[in-house]
Amino acid sequence: MTQIIVISGSHRPDSQSLKVSKVFKSSLMERGSVNNASILDLADQTLPLWGMDETQGQISKVDIAELKKNIAAASGFVIVCPEWHGMVPAALKNFFLHFSGGELAHKPALLTAVSSGIGGAYPISELRASSYKNSRICYLPEHLIVRNVESVLNDNSAIDNDDLNSLMERLEFCVDLLIEYVNAFKRIRDSKVVSTKRFKNGM
Ligand SMILES: Cc1cc2nc3c(=O)[nH]c(=O)nc-3n(C[C@H](O)[C@H](O)[C@H](O)COP(=O)(O)O)c2cc1C
Repeated sequence: MTQIIVISGSHRPDSQSLKVSKVFKSSLMERGSVNNASILDLADQTLPLWGMDETQGQISKVDIAELKKNIAAASGFVIVCPEWHGMVPAALKNFFLHFSGGELAHKPALLTAVSSGIGGAYPISELRASSYKNSRICYLPEHLIVRNVESVLNDNSAIDNDDLNSLMERLEFCVDLLIEYVNAFKRIRDSKVVSTKRFKNGM
């Protein structure tokens, strides 16, 4: 059973990240080997700040236990992250605080950054540097940056636009690659090596 979750890392409603996430979902659903592809939109599924609860005014409509179960059942991820002031949005960092207890461990993830201009490199670099240690998520060496995001992947985007064709070609390549990693990583997770409780956290 191959389930892939696309995480839309923007906490703005109707974000460009959500738009890009929907393109990934459609592309994943076209692959016969993917049983289910879903989107976790951090704007809609607002997680409380980790460590805070209702007594501290953090009211959340998200069933965190249920979400934990869904994430644990997935075998791969696409993480779509906008560049905000050269950074990863707080909601996505908070996501990693909530789910670094093994739910993401030894599972491949494709990083995708979104920028309204020609940015997008900083969040890729930030995620590669700092989100994997205890979550043990495994980023593919390949990643995607969707630049000038507002002018691409819209319903009315010109189909014969060279830039769009090249972006879509790279997106499909990244999805194919992710699926190969997903298939291969199942064997790693089935091994006894990863189930050790000895080293709870990475160094
Ligand atoms: C608070 C904020 C800061 C931003 N900073 C950057 C930036 O540093 N570099 C960049 O390329 N784009 C920046 N942008 C533009 C975003 O990349 C663009 O608005 C993108 O669509 C945001 O994605 P979202 O709609 O998924 O939130 C910023 C946008 C916001 C809202």
